[in-house]
Amino acid sequence: MRAYATEEAALEDVLRLSEGMTYKSSLAGMNLGGGKACIIGDPKMVEGREALFRRFGEFVDRLNGSYISAEDMGTSVTDMMQIRVSTNHVTGTDPKSGGGGDPSPWTAKGVFGAIRVACERKFGSADLKGRRVAVQGVGHVGGYLTGHLVQAGAVVTVCDTNERAVEAMRQQYNVAVVPPDNIYDVSCDVFAPCAVGQTVNEVTIQRLDCAVIAGAANNQLSDRSVYEILRKREILYCPDFAINSGGVICVGAEINPGGWKESWVEELVSRIPETTAKVLDRAAATGKFPDVVAIELAQERIDRVRAEKQARGPGTSRL
Ligand SMILES: NC(=O)c1ccc[n+]([C@@H]2O[C@H](COP(=O)([O-])OP(=O)(O)OC[C@H]3O[C@@H](n4cnc5c(N)ncnc54)[C@H](O)[C@@H]3O)[C@@H](O)[C@H]2O)c1
Repeated sequence: MRAYATEEAALEDVLRLSEGMTYKSSLAGMNLGGGKACIIGDPKMVEGREALFRRFGEFVDRLNGSYISAEDMGTSVTDMMQIRVSTNHVTGTDPKSGGGGDPSPWTAKGVFGAIRVACERKFGSADLKGRRVAVQGVGHVGGYLTGHLVQAGAVVTVCDTNERAVEAMRQQYNVAVVPPDNIYDVSCDVFAPCAVGQTVNEVTIQRLDCAVIAGAANNQLSDRSVYEILRKREILYCPDFAINSGGVICVGAEINPGGWKESWVEELVSRIPETTAKVLDRAAATGKFPDVVAIELAQERIDRVRAEKQARGPGTSRL
């Protein structure tokens, strides 16, 4: 849910996001395909919110399960429970009703593991003690990620457009805070975008003073033209959809036969660092940009699973 400037901008974003979900699910080891929905609106809306999400659920229901919704930016478990009133095809629901709850701690865990791998490749050590990390956006995922980083001894700078989110970080951790636009000028080892998409673009890259970009936000790069700029600047980029899959793993577990199980989520999230290493190593070996490699790996798995499914015949499970 986001206050997009135009319907066109929303459509472009949701199409990119849905494509990303396909690759994300595949790299995470799930046969979910990919889909995304967006609601054009102010995520802070209060009045009429329940009705809006129930109505949204009616639209989702019409798709008969070919699209399963889940929470993301600007929405919460409470909103998912309203969608649940109108359809069963929603995940990220309340643990009290069998759901996995807020997926963001899992997303943060996966991103944290990926940051360690990226630092290992870039600096020769995965130890984050003393590493300077700039976190853009400390909402659900960025907040949990900040916690992991601080615990690992990293020197963390955060920003957020929401003063309350920043205040929560100040109260919990010893972090530096900068105004939202100044985050691009913070001299750091790792820049972790955890707010909105496309914050890494032609303009901001020139300002970034980092060696690694690895964060939770979807669609971090504005477009493919930035590949070359990042390469020239020798900034190691971790593809967002390869490292932020903790959330889809968590929500995807709800539709497993037998329902949501923490052990299953833990197992798949624990593989994210390995996947990150595979992407970065193939990129280094081939000279291809990490995004290109990650899409290749995702597509290879999609082709393999599709062939296996065809060989097995219809009626096989999604996961
Ligand atoms: N929640 C998940 O499990 C999950 C999973 C995968 C990907 N993601 C992606 O990670 C990102 C963050 O997700 P979230 O669930 O934490 O969302 P959220 O809405 O809880 O947090 C985003 C935060 O970013 C802040 N923000 C917005 N614009 C900003 C800007 N220009 N500069 C600084 N801060 C800004 C918001 O105020 C908010 O606090 C999104 O791009 C989302 O799509 C989330």
